Amino acid sequence: MRILITGSSGQIGTNLAIALLDAGHEVLGIDKRPNEWDERVPTEIVDLVAIAHQNAAWSPPWRPDCIVHLAAWAKVHQLVVEPIKALENVEIAVAALELARAADCPIIFGSSREVYGEIHRHITDEAMADFVVAESPYSASKIAGEAFFYSYARCYGIPHLVFRFSNVYGRFDNDAERMERVTPLFVHKIATGEPITVFGRNKMLDFTYVDDCVRGVMAGIEALVDRKVVNETINLAYGQGFTLVDLVQLIELAVGVKADATYQPSQVGEVTRYVADISKAKRLLGYEPDVPLTLGIPLYVEWCRSRGFI
Ligand SMILES: NC(=O)c1ccc[n+]([C@@H]2O[C@H](COP(=O)([O-])OP(=O)(O)OC[C@H]3O[C@@H](n4cnc5c(N)ncnc54)[C@H](O)[C@@H]3O)[C@@H](O)[C@H]2O)c1
Repeated sequence: MRILITGSSGQIGTNLAIALLDAGHEVLGIDKRPNEWDERVPTEIVDLVAIAHQNAAWSPPWRPDCIVHLAAWAKVHQLVVEPIKALENVEIAVAALELARAADCPIIFGSSREVYGEIHRHITDEAMADFVVAESPYSASKIAGEAFFYSYARCYGIPHLVFRFSNVYGRFDNDAERMERVTPLFVHKIATGEPITVFGRNKMLDFTYVDDCVRGVMAGIEALVDRKVVNETINLAYGQGFTLVDLVQLIELAVGVKADATYQPSQVGEVTRYVADISKAKRLLGYEPDVPLTLGIPLYVEWCRSRGFI
């Protein structure tokens, strides 16, 4: 198959591109930054905001069998500080949908558990999303992005799958200046003896090892291209909750250093409790995640060591 990936220089995009190439597919990545991880990922430098504003025209050299749209400003707190970037997320989602419309091909959207907002239940299924309570500008941008995907299915017959990811961690998420995500940040700081601040010690999150995430997306591509699963919104996570204290302890064990941690309340805009119901992904895609956080953290730490990050 020929797969076009937006945001292919990012964490999930790079892992997905490599997995697809290894499986014998043809891949083209588009991103506004070059891929710093693997020169095998064919990358065209394209700014989807410019395409959305029609300041630039771009079309792929071949008709994709499927587009996977991952490009975004992907950090919640950054968009609390700079909400205009959340608007860009919506614009680039529409730009990706326009690429799908021009190529008349199906498209997958990398959405987020943030669309559920702050929920006080442990288990969340896909029908539970109250769009009136967007917790942050990032959350609002994913809600709006999903709405555009649903509208393109209705108005233009563009088949889609929407995946709601949750705290994806693993290789290719370590570039220093972008290291704002909790897992790479804590691994780096704990390993190097720097103090860490834990915002919300009892925050319970569903951490997803990137290989599980990529396996789920690849199953989705196959099912969507074959039209076996179409126009569905699916949680993709591990399906188990861990607190940030658990995360810190697992990192301490893996790196062999005691954390110098201080604890603060959660920051504005943060979701503090989420455990995905992944039964729909299991039922529709045969998705079976097999890397719990207890295994994933040592794997990730080993990868950080192999790359000299710690
Ligand atoms: N990683 C997670 O934990 C997680 C969780 C939920 C949802 N998501 C979503 O999944 C997707 C992929 O996440 P990721 O972790 O790989 O993010 P990432 O930040 O590592 O990668 C996103 C990529 O999009 C690119 N990009 C941003 N704006 C662009 C533009 N205007 N034109 C072209 N490229 C642009 C960036 O340069 C970057 O390489 C994102 O949409 C993110 O919001 C990720």
